[in-house]
Amino acid sequence: MGKEKKFNPPSLEIGGKTLKIPIIQGGMGVGISLDRLSGAVAEEGGIGVIAAVLCGLNEKGFAKNPLGVSLEALGEYIKRAKKNSKGIIGVNVMMALTDADEYIKAAIKAEADFLFIGAGLMRNPPEGIGLIPIVSSGRAAKIILKLWEDKGLYPDAIVVEGPKAGGHLGFKKDQIFKSEFSLEILLDDVLREIKSFEQKAGRKIPVIAAGGIYTGEDIFRIMELGASGAQIGTRFAATQECDANIRFKKMLINAEENDITIVDSPAGLPGRALKNNFLENVKTGNRRPVKCLAKCLRTCKHPDTPYCIFIALINAQRGNVNNGLIFCGSNVGRVKKIIPVKELIKELIGGYIVAAK
Ligand SMILES: Cc1cc2nc3c(=O)[nH]c(=O)nc-3n(C[C@H](O)[C@H](O)[C@H](O)COP(=O)(O)O)c2cc1C
Repeated sequence: MGKEKKFNPPSLEIGGKTLKIPIIQGGMGVGISLDRLSGAVAEEGGIGVIAAVLCGLNEKGFAKNPLGVSLEALGEYIKRAKKNSKGIIGVNVMMALTDADEYIKAAIKAEADFLFIGAGLMRNPPEGIGLIPIVSSGRAAKIILKLWEDKGLYPDAIVVEGPKAGGHLGFKKDQIFKSEFSLEILLDDVLREIKSFEQKAGRKIPVIAAGGIYTGEDIFRIMELGASGAQIGTRFAATQECDANIRFKKMLINAEENDITIVDSPAGLPGRALKNNFLENVKTGNRRPVKCLAKCLRTCKHPDTPYCIFIALINAQRGNVNNGLIFCGSNVGRVKKIIPVKELIKELIGGYIVAAK
């Protein structure tokens, strides 16, 4: 009898570090991915990502000093997740945040491995941390690469996030459901744009695909198209280790496809979220914030903003789901159970191996 060929998922090299599995847990703010979730993913051999934005929301003194408490918490969470997992930990920072630079400094100080840079252009890439920009088009990838190249730097990897993702989307509302903006097409676009930069850099720039990736087979298929790995959000939000309140997770697993909607966010981008009382109230205009508590976003047009995203996301994380903004990906209707990270990763890798055979 011939020996059965053993299939293993490919490992992934990024910035001199080796991931045992080609899976990245997407950063999820506010407080959805902190040390617990990121540590659990890192322990399984992927990259666990802490979302920096207002991450100290459940720490003492947050109400009085949200930024100061969050910066301190970020340092502690990074150290804790790294120590407990002995794995690779990233930090997600949105450039649209007023205090993006402060969060970045805190991430470098606490020795996070990678910075995942979303929602805006990073003009002055810092040293001392791996850099992974998140883009939604080949054009955006090219702009970043050109800008950084002039400073003698290339990213360690690039995440291309398609319109099926959860949270803020880097698309116009009318692009979200058009087939020419599919993840497959965007991936191809990014791979084409980065080729000449890879030659100049003398190394590969791995491209990670995100948005709507649900099964191990999905990971296999997107990697067949040239992605080096997958970034997944929604499925990790419905794990036992996800740092949000159980009521937030239950909203996700009880949702059906027709519960999903596209909202305008004060970040100046559309976002994908679950319909609820909160969004009904936003429609009727009775969520307009009187006071701005944290000046969290450069792009927020307070007092004309339809709602305070700072309060809405904190409410969601704490389980006050009727008064919160519940971000989710387009596949949320398929998630029916809250499971441990270990089980989810086992399922994803198992599915990948079956598809690869
Ligand atoms: C609840 C939630 C919060 C999110 N918050 C952020 C965030 O703060 N920053 C960011 O870059 N992406 C954020 N995302 C996007 C994820 O990191 C990830 O790229 C995306 O969800 C992938 O699509 P999927 O959910 O279909 O797997 C969020 C997604 C969800 C579901």
